[in-house]
Amino acid sequence: MTIAAKVQKAMEGQSWIRQMFELGIQMKQEHGADKVFDLSLGNPILEPPESVIKELQRLLADPPPGMHRYMPNAGYPETRAAIGAHLATQMEQPFTGGHIVMTCGAGGALNVIFESILDPGDEVIIFAPFFPEYPFYIENHGGVTRIAPTDSAFQLDLDTLRPMLTAKTKAVLVNSPNNPSGAVYSAALLEQLGTLLAETEAKYDSAIYLVSDEPYAQIAYDGLVTPPIYPAHHRSVVATSFSKTLALPGERIGYIAVNPGCPDSSTLVDAFTYCNRVLGFVNAPALMQWMVRDALDVSVDVSWYESKRDSLYKELTGMGYELVKPEGAFYAFPKSPIPDDVAFVKELLNWKVLVTPGAGFGSPGYFRISFCLEDWVLEGAMEGFREAIKAHKS
Ligand SMILES: Cc1ncc(COP(=O)(O)O)c(C=O)c1O
Repeated sequence: MTIAAKVQKAMEGQSWIRQMFELGIQMKQEHGADKVFDLSLGNPILEPPESVIKELQRLLADPPPGMHRYMPNAGYPETRAAIGAHLATQMEQPFTGGHIVMTCGAGGALNVIFESILDPGDEVIIFAPFFPEYPFYIENHGGVTRIAPTDSAFQLDLDTLRPMLTAKTKAVLVNSPNNPSGAVYSAALLEQLGTLLAETEAKYDSAIYLVSDEPYAQIAYDGLVTPPIYPAHHRSVVATSFSKTLALPGERIGYIAVNPGCPDSSTLVDAFTYCNRVLGFVNAPALMQWMVRDALDVSVDVSWYESKRDSLYKELTGMGYELVKPEGAFYAFPKSPIPDDVAFVKELLNWKVLVTPGAGFGSPGYFRISFCLEDWVLEGAMEGFREAIKAHKS
């Protein structure tokens, strides 16, 4: 069998998340599923809200005619209009359905965006730690990934970013609330980022898109509302999904929203629509598009995640782990007690605890814990965390 060298290489360097996932399956077969504490995956165990299930049952029991047919590549006009109206109220900006393209999740949205805006060699800046799929999504479409560091609280470091912005920069990709750090960027920080992008555009007479990947936008804690990206930069585009908010990542439903103030926004939406088609997504799943129209104000119970965040933070910091308190999403990103995060993650396997090394997120020296899990898994992992750090304390 001959496969493309690029794919062969990528498969050989398989992601840490995938490796831990496979190791988890193996360990569960060996020791029993209830003896392994697998905190490596961001696959929420919550079921979708009751109203979502009811609406799906209603649609299937009494399907609108043609519900399962092809549709315009941007999605159902009614669904786009509902999302546009929702954003117009929420953001107090003139959003309409014409600014929305329905996609196969946030992952599909990002691929559509990068296919639409990148010429070969164009650079996209991402911030470490980052969602490990980003470099693939960028390189899928001929782009070049540049990685900027964040500060000790995982916030954007604009002084380090400044010299990285050049005539080659086509987009800056942010993710708040962040996977894996849980950091949320303030409106003031986003505004400073927007100012920097506008200065760079003026300097090079270029166009830089601020792409915001926001599948966790509604999952923020302590009453925090995730600041929107739109006021920060005119060329801003949001990629988001219902995967986490409605706990249905397997259903692949999300959308792109283009800032109404973006120059040539209708050309951009046309490009997204075309790319949705030619990348083979064709359109986002029909049944889900019917459902989400009425679920724009619905969310899983965020307090369920918040209480897990609280107890995890208290336990880990009590044991001596250095950890920035996650403000959103459902991950914690503690510092590894030893510089070699991969070695530490391997030590945790002695207690049948699976987490993901920070190296997989572009930030060696840390590790990611996913807390969208049952209490018994989190509680069962505590002994391993306690014993593992003890071994490294003087
Ligand atoms: C930061 C981030 N972006 C995108 C995705 C992909 O989400 P979706 O299921 O909507 O494609 C994930 C999934 O975990 C994520 O954590």
